[in-house]
Amino acid sequence: MTTVSIVYHSGMGHTKKMAEAVAKGSGDVDGVEVNLIAIDGEDITGGRWKNDDVLMQLDASDGIIFGSPTYMGGTSGQMECFFDATAERWLAQSWRDKVAGGFSVSGGPSGDKFNTLVRFATLAMQQGMIWVGLGMIPNEDGLNRLSFYFGAGGQAMQEPPEEAPHNGKDGFFRSVMSAEVVDGPIIVTHTHNDKANAIAYPLASRLAGQDAAGLGGPTDRYGAIGANGAQHTQNANAGPLLAVGATGYDFDAGNLYNLKADQFIKDHGDVDGEQVAFAILSAVAST
Ligand SMILES: Cc1cc2nc3c(=O)[nH]c(=O)nc-3n(C[C@H](O)[C@H](O)[C@H](O)COP(=O)(O)O)c2cc1C
Repeated sequence: MTTVSIVYHSGMGHTKKMAEAVAKGSGDVDGVEVNLIAIDGEDITGGRWKNDDVLMQLDASDGIIFGSPTYMGGTSGQMECFFDATAERWLAQSWRDKVAGGFSVSGGPSGDKFNTLVRFATLAMQQGMIWVGLGMIPNEDGLNRLSFYFGAGGQAMQEPPEEAPHNGKDGFFRSVMSAEVVDGPIIVTHTHNDKANAIAYPLASRLAGQDAAGLGGPTDRYGAIGANGAQHTQNANAGPLLAVGATGYDFDAGNLYNLKADQFIKDHGDVDGEQVAFAILSAVAST
């Protein structure tokens, strides 16, 4: 049996979610036993972290994966206090040749979390451990979307951890579709030429005191349908708004179609073009 310990700190729960995913991934490998260990501020007194049970669990592990949110461009204070407490292990070199890896969550897509991953690796090097990077090319499913290779990089802002990453959370149209209140297909035109939807709406949300990253993009909590299409919606399909008479629409009842309209819709009020009418007629014709 190989033992992997995931040792992390999480202030608001986002890193905890990632730690749980890392634990699940590790535990899914045959012959691997996982310890999921949270670093607790309660174990810090006078700036010194102490918990011998945790250290002994780590001593008995074959691999240790470190996790921390990125706070002010680096590891959280709680994690740093824990790191200080591993100095005895450094002196004895008792973690030598254990495998090490790491992950961090920050509010920004970068948010300087690379620095946090490098911090983990530096500790691992001091302990004589063997650092393993992520080794994952970003893919279409959104895995390694932020392109970190040194370790795993996640992004979450001030939304509750249950909502970030969205993980299939319902978008507005999902309930419309599951309640089957519309018989035919639903079509949505969207374009970032619609500056009111792409910029003004998310900006106004922030002026109301909300977060500020990923302004107006598809991952923006306040991204508008007119700019990005309907997000987090079951049975959503993506395609272009077509020219009048073009073939290519394949609308089915019960499905939603986000039609990217950059070519034809030029601003917020520009929704009465013949291409929009043609898309509506094509949707009607398919029912
Ligand atoms: C004190 C503090 C400092 C932060 N510093 C950064 C930062 O430097 N870069 C960044 O992108 N996000 C920063 N954030 C945002 C957090 O990294 C982000 O909300 C993360 O999801 C928090 O993880 P947690 O829920 O596990 O605590 C900071 C948040 C706090 C509370």
